[in-house]
Amino acid sequence: MDYELIIRGGTVVTAQDMSKADVAIAGGRVVAVGAINGAAREQIDAAGQLVMPGGVDTHVHLDQPAPGGEMCDTFRTGTASAAAGGTTTVVSFSWQEQGQSLAAVTADYHQRARQSIVDYSFHLTITDATPTVLEQELPGLVEEGSRSIKIFMTYDGVRLDDSSVLRVLAAARRNKALVCVHAEHHELISWMSEQLVTAGFTAPKYHAWGKPIVAEREAVSRIIALAEALDVPIQIFHVSGAEPAEEIARAQARGLKVWAETCPQYLTLTANDLDRPGFEGAKFVFGPPARTTADQEALWDYIRRGVIEVVSSDHSPSKYDDPKGKKLAGENAPFNKIPNGIPGLAARLPLLFTEGVSKGRIDPPTFVRLVSTNPAKMFGLHPRKGAIAPNSDADIVIWDPKKEVTLTNALMYHGGDYTPYEGYRAIGYPSRVLVRGVTVFDGAGVVGRPGHGRYLPRQPYSMITPRGRFPTPFNPVDRKLV
Ligand code: URP
Ligand code: ZN
Ligand code: ZN
Repeated sequence: MDYELIIRGGTVVTAQDMSKADVAIAGGRVVAVGAINGAAREQIDAAGQLVMPGGVDTHVHLDQPAPGGEMCDTFRTGTASAAAGGTTTVVSFSWQEQGQSLAAVTADYHQRARQSIVDYSFHLTITDATPTVLEQELPGLVEEGSRSIKIFMTYDGVRLDDSSVLRVLAAARRNKALVCVHAEHHELISWMSEQLVTAGFTAPKYHAWGKPIVAEREAVSRIIALAEALDVPIQIFHVSGAEPAEEIARAQARGLKVWAETCPQYLTLTANDLDRPGFEGAKFVFGPPARTTADQEALWDYIRRGVIEVVSSDHSPSKYDDPKGKKLAGENAPFNKIPNGIPGLAARLPLLFTEGVSKGRIDPPTFVRLVSTNPAKMFGLHPRKGAIAPNSDADIVIWDPKKEVTLTNALMYHGGDYTPYEGYRAIGYPSRVLVRGVTVFDGAGVVGRPGHGRYLPRQPYSMITPRGRFPTPFNPVDRKLV
């Protein structure tokens, strides 16, 4: 046999273009793309289907602590959900809690992730930026492949104040790591929420009032300024609407290495979803909150302009009908006591394809860039991931662009008891998903083996090389003249 597998007769979609081609696979890698004559142990007829690089989801919370509650996906269930939705690589979090050693936590996450069905890597979440963590632990952890750091500007017990943010930015620059930021103004949100609750506005819908877009815009603008002062590349996570996106566009126009991610929830849900009957709105509590339909259209514009170049899920699941989930503080809990976060791994590609390609907002190569190639490039995984080309991993989603599927919780294959997208009519759905040439979703169910997923260490890459420009001739990170 010449090959292990040939995918025949499909339309191969890459980040640049699309054309009819066969794809040959051997040893878990793509070995040829084009008109292929050889024989293979298995052939897949992909006529009428799109053949795309598997999704790369660079914002996924799995098996993490949730204050007082429980995150309902392990690496096994979470990556089953990934496979079911066409995602073949996830970047999850090694999540430090106050007082913990980041090195010990990361070693523990490596153990937990051994049950993964798809390939994975880690961001390092720093919540306690001690000298030991930044000077003694971080260099080794980045060197061994966790080449991105996540920081929060809000949430009690997790957020960093501005002086800690500066120290993390400096450490990231020294160690050649990308910093990813949850940007919302903490004090404004706390104060606003307190006023709302005191005034009796406690229902889930007031979550959006407690976290107004100005809180996000201010924090985005502040972190951009701090990163500019220290010359550190950053990615802003989950941009929710026009105002923060505008700040990012301005920074990019100044030549700064500031990148942006949005998520399907900001393109499909609005603050009105928080106003569903009874406590149902809790299913839509996440931060920053979903905004307005005008914000959705603005985000599409920023996507088309290339200002926002990544669409991740921010999969952050807790159960709805569960005292360790959304009902942690009871069914009448004020909005600010409801755990933040929603599931979204399996729904990411179907939602973006439907809203983007099927509704004519973007073309298939743009879709591939948003969900696969750009995140792979942004996090140092390309061209091994995010490409269908000789020598790239044979991570492939065979996609039926016409298939109509009504999303249900059962189709999410996750550990949760709900999907915020229940009843959503998707047009375009995966029919088969391969990770390194092995089928993990066959169109009828998840067939991948827990443990098939491999850890992806990430080396330094040019995209996150600092610019070498500071506001003055002084380089404050290395304490020397430029
Ligand atoms: O509400 C959200 N997004 N929860 C997940 C954690 C985060 O903020 O990214
Ligand atoms: Zn966040
Ligand atoms: Zn998140």
